[in-house]
Amino acid sequence: MTSQQAPVTRCDRVAPGHHLLELDCPAIATTARPGQFVHVRVTGTFDPLLRRPISLLLCDKHRGHIQILVRTVGRGTDVLGHVAPGNVLDLMGPLGNGFPLPEAGQTPLLVAGGVGVAPLVFLADVLQNSPEGSYVRGLFGARNEDSLVCWEEFAGRCEEFQAVTEDGSVGEQGIVTEYLPAQLDRGDVGVVYTCGPRPMMAQVGRICEAAGVQCWASLEQFMGCGIGACLGCAIATHTDPPNQRVCKDGPVFDARTVDWEKTL
Ligand SMILES: Cc1cc2nc3c(=O)[nH]c(=O)nc-3n(C[C@H](O)[C@H](O)[C@H](O)COP(=O)(O)OP(=O)(O)OC[C@H]3O[C@@H](n4cnc5c(N)ncnc54)[C@H](O)[C@@H]3O)c2cc1C
Ligand code: FES
Repeated sequence: MTSQQAPVTRCDRVAPGHHLLELDCPAIATTARPGQFVHVRVTGTFDPLLRRPISLLLCDKHRGHIQILVRTVGRGTDVLGHVAPGNVLDLMGPLGNGFPLPEAGQTPLLVAGGVGVAPLVFLADVLQNSPEGSYVRGLFGARNEDSLVCWEEFAGRCEEFQAVTEDGSVGEQGIVTEYLPAQLDRGDVGVVYTCGPRPMMAQVGRICEAAGVQCWASLEQFMGCGIGACLGCAIATHTDPPNQRVCKDGPVFDARTVDWEKTL
């Protein structure tokens, strides 16, 4: 992990309240694994004081570029979404453990909710381009068409892809967890990867556990240091010790080990 000064090469609005940033950062682009994140200093001052954690959406090792997808929720992400190309951002990364890759012959199913699609696009990209060329299946749920952000980047990296929106504006109507059991009933999914709203991931974890399928979930939590020193990002788990740091022990956890009742 290193601190990098990364020039912004692109900052585009890709959907209402969502911006895609591309940064020139070879040190991160060449080493990062899917599921890892960068900790971004939002401005050149200490206001806001804390960095903001953002997943890696894609890494281009040849050009030395990384991409991140930012959803505006508060001041920090609002500033990030309006950074001009040419500006330089201070990044720490790549941070976190990342997703364990599937075992040989395992079919992976990637289940995304909203902006949680970001780390799964990177995972799909790596799996599709791996020497074994995994047969990747994707399931992506969001409130409506506007929130199904970067679906083309996701769908284009999956052999099979299903979209679900609450209002039915794209794909099936409903919530993503209603469509998961049918995917698992086909009997060929060996491992599930999920990222999205916490209640969605809790339900994905429960469905996978009932079906006897391994599930890896990427969690979000408020962060201070981002490197395991402040304990500000701890979540309750069934492991020993019972609290794990999302920044260092995660953000990816075996869904069975997360104490969803205490973390919701
Ligand atoms: C490992 C990790 C990866 C992430 N990847 C992405 C990503 O790829 N794209 C993206 O847009 N966002 C991502 N996030 C969430 C992002 O870090 C927060 O949205 C951001 O920190 C909010 O900062 P802010 O200054 O805009 O909002 P603040 O003003 O700090 O907060 C505004 C609101 O957002 C909520 N919030 C703040 N931080 C978080 C958080 N970490 N998790 C959940 N809710 C929060 C608060 O409840 C608050 O109401 C990720 C978070 C983690 C931990
Ligand atoms: S944010 Fe400091 S330990 Fe995780």
